[in-house]
Amino acid sequence: MNAQQELPGSYWLETAPGGEPAPPPSRDLAVDVAVVGGGMAGLSTAWELVRRGHEVAVLEAGRIAGGVTGRTTAKLTALHTLVYDRLRRTRGREGARLYAHSQSAAIRRAAETVEEVGIECAWEEAAACTYAEDPRHVPQLRAEAEAAREAGLPAGFVTGTELPYPVAGAVRVTGQAQFHPVKYLLGLTEELRRRGGIVHEGTRVTGLTEGTPCVLTTDAGVRVRAREVVVATHHPVFDRALLFTRLSPRRELVVAGTLGADRAPRDMYITTEQNTRSVRSAPHTDGTRLLIVAGEHFTPGTADVEERFGRLAAWAESRFPGLALSHRWATQDNDSTDSVPLVGPLHPGSHHAYVATGFGGWGLSGGIMAGELIADLVEGRKPEWADLYDPRRLGSVVREGWSFLKNQAHVAQHFVGDRLPSVTTPSPEELAPGDGAVLRVGGHRYAFHRDGGGLLHAVSARCTHLGCIVAFNRAEQAWECPCHGSRFAPDGRVLQGPAVRPLEKREV
Ligand code: FES
Repeated sequence: MNAQQELPGSYWLETAPGGEPAPPPSRDLAVDVAVVGGGMAGLSTAWELVRRGHEVAVLEAGRIAGGVTGRTTAKLTALHTLVYDRLRRTRGREGARLYAHSQSAAIRRAAETVEEVGIECAWEEAAACTYAEDPRHVPQLRAEAEAAREAGLPAGFVTGTELPYPVAGAVRVTGQAQFHPVKYLLGLTEELRRRGGIVHEGTRVTGLTEGTPCVLTTDAGVRVRAREVVVATHHPVFDRALLFTRLSPRRELVVAGTLGADRAPRDMYITTEQNTRSVRSAPHTDGTRLLIVAGEHFTPGTADVEERFGRLAAWAESRFPGLALSHRWATQDNDSTDSVPLVGPLHPGSHHAYVATGFGGWGLSGGIMAGELIADLVEGRKPEWADLYDPRRLGSVVREGWSFLKNQAHVAQHFVGDRLPSVTTPSPEELAPGDGAVLRVGGHRYAFHRDGGGLLHAVSARCTHLGCIVAFNRAEQAWECPCHGSRFAPDGRVLQGPAVRPLEKREV
């Protein structure tokens, strides 16, 4: 194990571990609204509804904020890389305006919540910048600055930044924010419970029957009856509208370390160059700040993650001399085919079930926006941006044609290609401790893993979502499905959906 591998995981989760887990329900429950998922979107929805007097239960499979929210870079901004120039072409100027307006409203809502609840979450106002080092990208940045300004954001094109390396240009939007996402959600959860909201952790929801009321079943066999259900599980675990065909999973790596406060950038940065580089800093100890750098994205199950971590760390150390790396972790996003999140009714015939997904790496402002939007829909109101985000949006598949087809081709490649006989088939004996491989045994694909103690374990390599073949991510010790991003522990337990059932155990 090298030095990089020994670094701890998410800084946010380490510095806000939470208290004792809220136990799963011991008996059946009945509430007004059941929210599945305790990340930013789920808890924001629960918060809005509890404030409006509804009885709400949040059911989280792991710990509150312990999934993607606890592993983001925690930027709260309406500038989502280069979305506005694209939106004004695909959804028109009004679509771009509604996007900017709704995302900005979410940031203001988060600021109000911090103030109202008194949450200590290292909140800082900052500008957000999308930059490029290559002068050939300047026209694209100028177009984005113009589109963002036209959409109503305080945006401009600049040629200088505080970054310690030259840039050819940047779109800069002022009045955005950054914070500690786990402290924010834990503070929100505490207040939610104080106001009568119910929270259960370690509670995986495995079944949904829509009706009046809807009925959820959990892995412990408990049933939760609710007038309305909100599926906020990052990738929806209940997906009757086949939303998975319009989402592509993207895994992204993060490294963080301390830097002299006088050398750390105060604004938030992102570039699409070098396979994406996202940079921000957070308050740390006296005299230092924590520099957080993300990038090196890839489809789950398709990359040498250790090599990519090395590349990202080397980039951060060379661009920020004096950086002492202390943490590294990975996160996962779902990109929608038209770059707009899917928030609204779960499927065309749905009257009491809602979904929030497809935030494409911008799930903090997106999740807070989704919370307000779904709370309005539950109460029979329709904010002006509801149609923009509606998962049933008309003509969407036509507009998304190319991205949609690319997604399907990628999935088909893994679904069919993974079933073809492999050319080289190492034997399980060749696996080193900590390694894993998918091998063919008697016509079936087994996922073998050798643990640190040298023992060999095997589970089925067939993902329990829709049957694609998983691949091993050695750096994170997880089986990953390249089709829709489900992730499993070496022993087959579900780490991340859309799968809700573990990989089946196999005899070695
Ligand atoms: Fe869909 Fe694996 S996540 S098949």
